[in-house]
Amino acid sequence: MVKVPVRLVSWDEIVKWSWGLAKKIRQAGYNPGVIIAIARGGYVPARLLCDFLGIENLISIQSQHWTEAAKKSERAIIKFEYKVNLENMKALLVDDIIDTGESVILARDYIIREWKPKELKIAALQWISPVAKIKPDFYYLEVKEWVWFQYPWTRLEDVTQFLKRMLTEESKNKKEWKYIEIIRKFIEWYGIEVDEEYYKEALRTLIEKGLLEKRDEIFIVKV
Ligand code: ADE
Repeated sequence: MVKVPVRLVSWDEIVKWSWGLAKKIRQAGYNPGVIIAIARGGYVPARLLCDFLGIENLISIQSQHWTEAAKKSERAIIKFEYKVNLENMKALLVDDIIDTGESVILARDYIIREWKPKELKIAALQWISPVAKIKPDFYYLEVKEWVWFQYPWTRLEDVTQFLKRMLTEESKNKKEWKYIEIIRKFIEWYGIEVDEEYYKEALRTLIEKGLLEKRDEIFIVKV
């Protein structure tokens, strides 16, 4: 399995990028009455945009494509198909990143068909232009080369999946690991470092799931 390129994103960067995105929306003169966050990645940017643009109405739609960190599932789906009447409102659909664009396209089409907003525009913090099937109306950063952005709100989930992938792959050569060896290998594989509690909690989860066993401070890979 190939090692994915990863870029760690901090909370401070998220705030800075959201300010930048809000400014672009304001300068374009777009004044939505409601923000629609794409769950789950769009939640934090959408909430910050509400604050930075003074918007009170925030709802959400769950359009899911990426089930595991940097691993694509088959296709995007709308998870809860509830109805909202937006006939008299301008709306802004918000996600963290437009990667392939499939989940945002699915959400957009569903909202236009079922919720019927007066107008709908799309905003994202980041847009991976070479792979995306859609260009958002507003974005803060254009990404020219695909990487996995390790956002602060998926840190534990990502670290758990990254560790699982790494240990499964490395177990062909090595099944018994000291904690420090795991961390060193993680940094070598992914080029990022996170706070200790993430490694610890991720390893605890992998033990709970039966992928790992811990004996006398040694982690044993069970695959
Ligand atoms: N979700 C979909 N694509 C992503 C990427 N490249 N980085 C982080 N989260 C994503």
